[in-house]
Amino acid sequence: MFSRITGTGSYLPEKILTNQDLEKLVETSDEWIRSRTGITQRHIASENQSASDLALNASQKAMEAAGVTSKDIDLIIVATTTPDMVFPSTACILQDKLGVENCPAFDVQAVCSGFVYALATADMFVSSGKCRNALVVGSEIYSKILDWNDRTTCVLFGDGAGAVVLSQSEEPGILSSHLHASGSYRDVLSVPGNISGGAIQGNPYINMDGGTVFKFAVKVLEDVVHEAVEKNNMQTSDIDWLIPHQANIRIIRSTAQKLGIPLDKVVVTVDKHGNTSAASIPLALDLAVRDRRIHKDQLVMLEGVGGGFTWGAVLLRW
Ligand SMILES: CC(C)(COP(=O)(O)OP(=O)(O)OC[C@H]1O[C@@H](n2cnc3c(N)ncnc32)[C@H](O)[C@@H]1OP(=O)(O)O)[C@@H](O)C(=O)NCCC(=O)NCCS
Repeated sequence: MFSRITGTGSYLPEKILTNQDLEKLVETSDEWIRSRTGITQRHIASENQSASDLALNASQKAMEAAGVTSKDIDLIIVATTTPDMVFPSTACILQDKLGVENCPAFDVQAVCSGFVYALATADMFVSSGKCRNALVVGSEIYSKILDWNDRTTCVLFGDGAGAVVLSQSEEPGILSSHLHASGSYRDVLSVPGNISGGAIQGNPYINMDGGTVFKFAVKVLEDVVHEAVEKNNMQTSDIDWLIPHQANIRIIRSTAQKLGIPLDKVVVTVDKHGNTSAASIPLALDLAVRDRRIHKDQLVMLEGVGGGFTWGAVLLRW
């Protein structure tokens, strides 16, 4: 028994915030943002939208593409760092909004690697025969945890959601998954605040040492791809599509160059979406599936890195 992605979907909030808009908020420039990150714009959720709303839109499209209804879904995993509330989980809220009855539903918190973690987890349920159709979602509203006066972070992120349906299959889809974490780096990229005694304690906004994140990301994004191809007795040249977490075009280019993968085999959305954390990989995957770049039997490598640090990859045959 194998698991295979049978449908993808995504959703981006209507409002677009351009670099020119940001020039009016903080001391920055379109030129600085584009040259350092490759980002030109990002989508921003409205005040009344929550992660489960974005997830609902993306999930409905993925389910439609897979040809399944709420009756067919028997597992829901949502990767998010910006849940609707402390509890219940965004996955439980999404389950109710979708009208899915009585299936396991839980969130995965692995920041920007969240979707890779969630997909690897769902694969274990599906390929072991415990579930038939898992809904796996990455949904984020980072605009809620950004300090809009801090130019070093507020220009980098955006909101959005991506989803896949992972179904039982007789042919291999997911070939292997590789997950890692190193909590000793937890202070490098974090939102350290928490709620206690009815009040926010500590800083509730993103706190980041950008240079350290950059160097770490380039290293582990290269290492984990080698790990995945070696496990499958393949080479990086066998990869048809690399879909990396979309944090920064310079991280994406450096990783591709070190791996010897030409940029035309890399799906890039960071220019239009910014860094949407756990949503970035399923958003990019959905785009490349819907514009028919990805074809049946092609080899696709998904990889992410994020706060924790966490990092990981999923190698799959489309
Ligand atoms: C944040 C990042 C874009 C900074 O790029 P960089 O090339 O290291 O930046 P530089 O060192 O060239 O420039 C830093 C300078 O720009 C300034 N700067 C920072 N943000 C700025 C902005 N939005 N506009 C203008 N100037 C800015 C800094 O204050 C600093 O000024 P100083 O030298 O006077 O102190 C880069 O380190 C990065 O992308 N890191 C990874 C972050 C990430 O992806 N996080 C999420 C991972 S999941």
